[in-house]
Amino acid sequence: MACCCSFLLLLIRSSFIFFTLSESAVQIQGLGIGINYGQIANNLPSPSRVSGLLRSLNVSRVKLYDADPKVLLAFSNTNVEFIIGLGNEYLENMTDPIKAQNWVQQRVQPYISQTKITCITVGNEVFVSNDTRLHSNLLPAMQTVYRTLVNLGLDKQVTVTTAHSLNILSNSFPPSAGSFRPDLAEYLQPLLNFHAQANSPFLINAYPFFAYKDNPSQVPLEYALFQPNQGLMDPITNLNYDNMLYAQLDAVYSAIKAMGHTNIEVRVSETGWPSKGDENEVGASPQNAELYNGNLLNRIEAKQGTPANPSVPIDIHVFALFNENLKPGPASERNYGLYYPDGTPVYNIGLQGHLPGVEFSFASKNIHYLSIRLNRSGIFLEVFVIDKIRLAVGVFYTDSNLINLSVELRPSNENIFICYDRGIHGSVKPFETEPNRNCPLKIVIETVGYKTS
Ligand SMILES: *[C@@H]1O[C@H](CO)[C@@H](O)[C@H](O)[C@H]1NC(C)=O
Ligand SMILES: *[C@@H]1O[C@H](CO)[C@@H](O)[C@H](O)[C@H]1NC(C)=O
Ligand SMILES: *[C@@H]1O[C@H](CO)[C@@H](O)[C@H](O)[C@H]1NC(C)=O
Ligand SMILES: *[C@@H]1O[C@H](CO)[C@@H](O)[C@H](O)[C@H]1NC(C)=O
Ligand SMILES: *[C@@H]1O[C@H](CO)[C@@H](O)[C@H](O)[C@H]1NC(C)=O
Repeated sequence: MACCCSFLLLLIRSSFIFFTLSESAVQIQGLGIGINYGQIANNLPSPSRVSGLLRSLNVSRVKLYDADPKVLLAFSNTNVEFIIGLGNEYLENMTDPIKAQNWVQQRVQPYISQTKITCITVGNEVFVSNDTRLHSNLLPAMQTVYRTLVNLGLDKQVTVTTAHSLNILSNSFPPSAGSFRPDLAEYLQPLLNFHAQANSPFLINAYPFFAYKDNPSQVPLEYALFQPNQGLMDPITNLNYDNMLYAQLDAVYSAIKAMGHTNIEVRVSETGWPSKGDENEVGASPQNAELYNGNLLNRIEAKQGTPANPSVPIDIHVFALFNENLKPGPASERNYGLYYPDGTPVYNIGLQGHLPGVEFSFASKNIHYLSIRLNRSGIFLEVFVIDKIRLAVGVFYTDSNLINLSVELRPSNENIFICYDRGIHGSVKPFETEPNRNCPLKIVIETVGYKTS
């Protein structure tokens, strides 16, 4: 086995630049942009490839909806900061200190020394549902997770919060009159007390797209898209708002203030604009998505604050990294991505200008590491890159029998399993690429990744 492996490496080295995973861990100094990395799809690239893409973009902050160990591992030894999530289905269990401790010990502690986990969102848009059990479990779950972190000495590194839909507001204009829905006061008042005490940010998912789509004749598109426009005046403060997102953010600040808190920071855990929608989803288009996200990036880069909080730079996670083909709901839901799953941008938001690496290509010249395990001696393997997501694998047997097989890199699988059987007359047939199949000869391509420098 040892002799074959070195021969194998020689073969690969002759065709590719070969890096190990640890060599590819480069330090990046990110811009202020954060991205939501949602994974409700069956065609996404593996986390190690996504890690390469994001690092090539200098993206320094990523938000997950779970605590996917594969993702956390793929970002080991990078400077990328993670918000990880506990889905709503966990809330009830997380009110139990034993279960909360188990979760933190299994999903956070093993990764935190290598991957920067800075925040846990406990639940997402809990008040969108009518499930009052969920509503009343929210704060106890947050408190229990927080106490667990305190007990484990992690509370200084990791904050605890939850992300809200903008629907928790009953009034959002003028921003200075923003207020929460009265029916939620019994939940939000103690929640705000928790934020103030635990010093954690209040997160809001804010989509000017929804407001525009629901009322295209009333809402000026330029105002929703950060395009030049005369803006809307808050008659109470005389502050002028040239875009809706800032007005929404300040409305949340006002609503919090109305409940007696002035020292809780509001951050945008999601915002974005779909590049495609159903016929009745007015405004969903690549042009508008490009304007919204492109203009937003400029504002983030300029470290702007909102009119009512000019000294606090907006803190934003854009939704989302990829189009997610399995998201339910209207077509827009599946078309918020900046990227298609194959790594090509959905539209050009000028990231290349200040984020070199967007031109970074997945094609052959940029393949950088590839580790292969064979479980039988006497065979040699050669790998060619065909295109962004396919590799050609040629398998040579000791008896010079050669086959050429193109393998699709399975997006959701870190490992690619290829089974071969040697048929009669020397022909070799590939099986289905399933991990658990009984397999006379199994080849596992463990990782394929990209180095960005
Ligand atoms: C990306 O990060 C690297 C490493 O810190 C830095 O040299 C480079 O200028 C950054 N690129 C941009 C566009 O900020
Ligand atoms: C909650 O805890 C129960 C009992 O331990 C377990 O069976 C269930 O899978 C847990 N729910 C989630 C979402 O983890
Ligand atoms: C939730 O409650 C609102 C108001 O009480 C009601 O209009 C809506 O139909 C309810 N939704 C569901 C799914 O029960
Ligand atoms: C190769 O792997 C297959 C499937 O895991 C197994 O059945 C077979 O015995 C292995 N061959 C060797 C030589 O280890
Ligand atoms: C296998 O495919 C690669 C890539 O397309 C090609 O370069 C090579 O010549 C093929 N080999 C055989 C034996 O067909």
